[in-house]
Amino acid sequence: MKKKSLKWRSGLLTGTAGGSDWVKRAAARAMLRAVNFRDEDFLKPIVTVACPFTNATPCNAHLLTLGETVSLEIEKQGGKPFLFGTPVITDGESMGMEGMKYSLVSRDLIADCIESMHESYQADGLIALCGCDKTIPAAAMGLARNNSIGLVLYGGSILPGRLNGKDLTVVSIFEAIGSKSAGKMTDKDFHDVECASCPGNGACGGMYTANTMASALEVLGISLPYSSSNLAVDSQNRLSRDKLADCRKSAEALFLLLEKGIRARDILTGKAFENAVTFVLAIGGSTNAVLHLLAIAREAGVKLDLSDFSKLAEKVPLIGNFKPFGKYVMEDLHKIGGVPMVMKMLFEKGLLNGSCLTVTGKTVAENLKETGKRPAGQDVVYSLEKPLAAKNCHIRILYGSLAPEGAVIKLAGSGITRHRGPARVFDQEESALEAILAGKIKKGECLIIRYEGPKGGPGMREMLSPSSALMGAGLGREVALLTDGRFSGGTHGIMVGHISPEAVDGGLIALVRDGDIINIDADSRTVDLEVAQSEIKKRKAAWKKPKAKYPRGVLAKYARLVGSASEGAVTS
Ligand code: FES
Repeated sequence: MKKKSLKWRSGLLTGTAGGSDWVKRAAARAMLRAVNFRDEDFLKPIVTVACPFTNATPCNAHLLTLGETVSLEIEKQGGKPFLFGTPVITDGESMGMEGMKYSLVSRDLIADCIESMHESYQADGLIALCGCDKTIPAAAMGLARNNSIGLVLYGGSILPGRLNGKDLTVVSIFEAIGSKSAGKMTDKDFHDVECASCPGNGACGGMYTANTMASALEVLGISLPYSSSNLAVDSQNRLSRDKLADCRKSAEALFLLLEKGIRARDILTGKAFENAVTFVLAIGGSTNAVLHLLAIAREAGVKLDLSDFSKLAEKVPLIGNFKPFGKYVMEDLHKIGGVPMVMKMLFEKGLLNGSCLTVTGKTVAENLKETGKRPAGQDVVYSLEKPLAAKNCHIRILYGSLAPEGAVIKLAGSGITRHRGPARVFDQEESALEAILAGKIKKGECLIIRYEGPKGGPGMREMLSPSSALMGAGLGREVALLTDGRFSGGTHGIMVGHISPEAVDGGLIALVRDGDIINIDADSRTVDLEVAQSEIKKRKAAWKKPKAKYPRGVLAKYARLVGSASEGAVTS
């Protein structure tokens, strides 16, 4: 590549050699010399490396090493890396607490950080690293927003924990809490699960939100083939060889994109989003993918809405047998050919658009030429001819009196598509969890957890603690949970989330009372409150919008800015 013949935008920062701005930019160069720039470096492209590092969580604890490795690879390619940090809120640790309200908030905050750093330094290229859930869509949102040149590199998922011959993930401990509270587990067994669930660095191992979104970005074409299933670390907790190779390949790919002038929105097209939605439905991904793909599409200027999920679901069977509802973790997908192998299956059946451009500079179809076929004799990924569950059996979009703007249900091939029963209403997650753990929830009931939406929470917390507690208590198939909040990728059971409009906006969910009959019918894609219109009218007249929970700070700002979950809950 003739790097020096290209005109770099970062010349605005450092001054163009011999140009009229060379003298004016001397102060910037003086400061850059203090951070190891030499004369020749001012001719090189500047590449921002977004690094959501923290030692607070295994999901991202290796990201500083990853960022430093990527930076070295950028130097080898002839660029100058600007490595910078972003926040990370780890759902697995903040779950069930007030702190979880910052989780979805952090997605947009990280995208804002990426935009601010990249644009303020007028950088030429961007490699956005990611690990824990929100950092992944945030990386793509940061790239898409200003149509930057760059790509995403996922830190990779954790190795599975092992206990008594079984694979464990972080969700094992959430479910153990339910079992322990229901008196079904000894103290020792409980402690053993806690100690074995997370053996080293990397994002949660099942097909929860992190792996779903990392895979979705690979399918979108904004990260390299195989990079989402390559594991984070080896058994010694050092960066895996595959992940080290991802660092080198990502730097090489970035310079190809710079040379060809391929920008994020050349890759993040409407067809590419259809591919990503198709993959998520086929693999059995998290419901959070609905929220995040809508948000990334919005940043990319692509029209994607809930109806696209319904439309594509009609064509796509469930073939992934992954946790939380299935048997396997990301490592198992890695062993049988990773995301490209599944993409090839879908592409050969005409379910994936092969003409979409990717960060390799090639199209999806070109990337898949060398990809191996689905290995026989395994049940990690079922064939499309004999799937794990039929078409439209994973995520469905529901509408009805309770959710005129939409809600999301994850069926995950469970076969449970209907539930009708009396409501038990809670105005926040904590009180619902307390009731479950105290054994106060009865079979057949519909648990309503409201005022947990994007504005009302604020921050649309995930209801993993109550949903896992229901599973652990053996009520997973008997009790439905409905919320204007959302669900973790680790959730399974009868779960309806993202109910829009949310309670704080006066949605009907705000008017439900204990004992009201709720009818979920995923076959007819409806979710309704069976209360007479006259009674609803009375309740509506008596309803008062609650005061904002946070008068100042990030959550107050977020509650003022955020939009509906049915549109991705975005702030820009
Ligand atoms: Fe970080 Fe699951 S809590 S990836």
